[in-house]
Amino acid sequence: MILEGLVTTLSADGTLNLAPMGPVVDRSLSWLQLRPFQTSQTFRNLKAHPCGVLHVTDDVELIARAALHGLTTDPETFPAVTIPGRVLRSTCRWYEFRVTDVDDHDQRALLHAEVVHVGHQRELFGFNRAMFAVLEATILATRLHLLTEADVREQLGRLRPLVEKTASDVEETGWQFVINYIDAHYRSLD
Ligand SMILES: Cc1cc2nc3c(=O)[nH]c(=O)nc-3n(C[C@H](O)[C@H](O)[C@H](O)COP(=O)(O)O)c2cc1C
Repeated sequence: MILEGLVTTLSADGTLNLAPMGPVVDRSLSWLQLRPFQTSQTFRNLKAHPCGVLHVTDDVELIARAALHGLTTDPETFPAVTIPGRVLRSTCRWYEFRVTDVDDHDQRALLHAEVVHVGHQRELFGFNRAMFAVLEATILATRLHLLTEADVREQLGRLRPLVEKTASDVEETGWQFVINYIDAHYRSLD
């Protein structure tokens, strides 16, 4: 199964990078198979510095902003316990990992990692359909180059009622941020 989370990594010069990633996991969460595109900063960082932290969070606005380069300041972090890395202060759980194997034959690389430490900060909120809608819209927004505008608008039309019916302010703000990003993308093509 795939677990959608936020991965922090460090570049060769120690700069923090934050990106949503969906590694393959099993329920033990004792290992991860990360699948970063080779064009991603996360991939470059893990090649240079094979450790990172996977975060499980219900903050979908943070996920959207991290995916679409919409963070205005670095989120608050503290040092990881067992690896050189950083942990998001607002996370629910975190998994510190070390990459043990890299397969970069495809554009989407496969990185096997062992989880070396698990931490817990707060409880996950629980199921909320607006959160999933923002997550799906964010994934759509990272794939605009692969989809037609009609397809994107149709998928957003199906997700919008979930936000209208079930969101709190955080999901509404996250949703609006993603919609603005998508609208700006299509305006830039006109
Ligand atoms: C929920 C979610 C899961 C994602 N999973 C992946 C993934 O597994 N691999 C990948 O390359 N990009 C994935 N993306 C897209 C990246 O987050 C996005 O391209 C990001 O800008 C990469 O950032 P980076 O260049 O700083 O690593 C995902 C996006 C979202 C919203």
